[in-house]
Amino acid sequence: MIEIIPATTDNIPDIQKISAVAWPHTFKDILSEKQIAYMMHWMYSDESLREQMEKQHHRYVLAKEGEEFAAYLSYEPNCENTGKTKIHKIYILPSHQRKGIGKRLFDFVLSQARENGEKAVYLNVNKNNRNAIAFYQRMGFYRAGEEVNDIGNGFVMDDYVYEKPLDHE
Ligand SMILES: CC(C)(COP(=O)(O)OP(=O)(O)OC[C@H]1O[C@@H](n2cnc3c(N)ncnc32)[C@H](O)[C@@H]1OP(=O)(O)O)[C@@H](O)C(=O)NCCC(=O)NCCS
Repeated sequence: MIEIIPATTDNIPDIQKISAVAWPHTFKDILSEKQIAYMMHWMYSDESLREQMEKQHHRYVLAKEGEEFAAYLSYEPNCENTGKTKIHKIYILPSHQRKGIGKRLFDFVLSQARENGEKAVYLNVNKNNRNAIAFYQRMGFYRAGEEVNDIGNGFVMDDYVYEKPLDHE
C-alpha cells in the first residue's frame, strides 16, 4: 500500500536518499556528469532543502511503501502570485516506477490545488526527458511554452513548460 505523507525538515535525509539514486538515473543520458553533480548540490544539499521548505514555500510530500520511502514530490501553491500551483520536483525510485505512484502524487497535488481554488498546475521539464513528458501528457498536461534558464557555472536548463488548467474539467 502506498501512503502519501507531508515531509518536514526531519525528512531531508529521506529525500536525499531517493534523489541520490533517481536523479543520476534520470539524467545520465541527458546531462553531463558535471552538470548532474552541480545541480544535485544546488537542489539537494541540507541548506538548499531547508531553505526551499522554510523560506521558498516549497511543500514536500513523500510516498511510502511499507517501511520504504519510494518517491518525493515538491510543489508550491500560488507560485509567483500566479494563482497556479507549480510542481517543482517529482522523483520515483527506478525500482518503483510505472506502478502508479507518480499518478497518486499528482492526484494529491491536483486535489489540493482544486481545494485552494487554483487556476492550473504547471511544471518545467527538460526537453529531452521523454519519459516524464509521456507521463505528464498521460496526466492531462499540455505543452504551454518553453524556457531556457541560466543556472550558473556555465550551465542552463533547457525546458518545456507543461500545464493543466483546472477549470476545464
Ligand atoms: C515520470 C515519473 C514521475 C512517472 O511516475 P510513475 O510512478 O513511473 O508513473 P505511473 O505508474 O503513476 O504512471 C501513470 C500513467 O502514466 C503512464 N506513464 C508513466 N510513465 C510513462 C512513460 N515513460 N511512457 C508512457 N507512459 C507513461 C503510465 O502508463 C500510466 O498510464 P495509465 O494510467 O494508462 O496506466 C517517474 O517515472 C519518474 O520518477 N521518472 C524519473 C524522474 C523524472 O523524470 N522526473 C521528472 C523530472 S521533470
